[in-house]
Amino acid sequence: MKVNGKHYRSLWWNESANVLEIIDQRWLPHDFREQPVRSMQDFADAISEMRVRGAPLIGATAAYGMALAMLEDPSDANLNGAWDFLEKTRPTAINLRWALNRCRDFLTPLPEVERAAAALKLAHEIADEDVEINRNIGLNGLKIIKDIAAKKPAGEPVQLLTHCNAGWLATVDWGTATSPMYHAHNENLNLHVWVDETRPRNQGAITAWELGSHGVPHTYITDNAGGHLMQHGQVDMVIVGTDRTTRRGDVCNKIGTYLKALAAKDNGVPFYVALPSPTVDWTVSDGVAEIPIEQRDLSETTHIQGKTTNADIESVQVTPDATPAGNPAFDVTPNHLVTGLITERGVCAASEEGLAGLFPELA
Ligand code: MRU
Repeated sequence: MKVNGKHYRSLWWNESANVLEIIDQRWLPHDFREQPVRSMQDFADAISEMRVRGAPLIGATAAYGMALAMLEDPSDANLNGAWDFLEKTRPTAINLRWALNRCRDFLTPLPEVERAAAALKLAHEIADEDVEINRNIGLNGLKIIKDIAAKKPAGEPVQLLTHCNAGWLATVDWGTATSPMYHAHNENLNLHVWVDETRPRNQGAITAWELGSHGVPHTYITDNAGGHLMQHGQVDMVIVGTDRTTRRGDVCNKIGTYLKALAAKDNGVPFYVALPSPTVDWTVSDGVAEIPIEQRDLSETTHIQGKTTNADIESVQVTPDATPAGNPAFDVTPNHLVTGLITERGVCAASEEGLAGLFPELA
């Protein structure tokens, strides 16, 4: 998508330097910093420190990490070593393991001499496929938005609510939850998006920055405001992303998603999840029992980062000194709270039958 009129993907290969370039998202929305990723340690840090973040982007980054590993040393030992090294960087988003497995399965049978070129080509393919998947999620979600728009009084916008950043910066391009919004906006549909701040890291500010850059009307709200807005008829539809969805349609996403789904259920607001197929973990069924939830650094809870009046980006403490804190980064929304899954192949029920119907070859 565009930044100051220039089209960007969230990562790109710099041919002349033979290096991956990313946007260091830790400084957004206040500062847009491009950064090369030069070593395997750089790749691990980029994912674990959330310079790149969002399940699909983590997967694509890991694929380029495998490509760098093969450029450095295409042996079996290094192929498996790179898989282990990168797999440990973040536990919840399944796209990481999906991309690493795809790379290892594809590269293992190849002669060592062919692996570096093949790994880079595969990483490009994974990135391109992600863009196409998200574009199609957008077109399928657009139909739902249009149906809602058709029932609204003339002149009233369709009111969407989203949590975290499932935008183009969380993918390679388009985003998942934001793709229907961008498509709707491009077709001049009247829409407005409520953007949850998403403590502790406030990824909602990235979503607000994205939507603002594209002229999509939106309002940034505190995490606790959504239920109130739903009670007062100010939300027509919730769309969120996901880091891992089980084969029966339980949805793991950024902490706080579950509470939005509960409020949506209580108020009869449809709750949709934008789901690229690589984010389905077909090996697990019960999301609450089986998905590992990342516990992040407690400083993310006790401190908050923002821009000072001098335009410096600083972190300040919000809790008393030595207050015990907790920081689970994700939660699971059980399938019965999900109205539908918006995938690249269409919209389905959040159930084993629904997902298997759209992806029979994967189920
Ligand atoms: O911790 P993050 O910022 O990587 O979490 C991101 C999310 O939870 C997104 O909603 C999810 O990855 C879907 S991104 C298309």
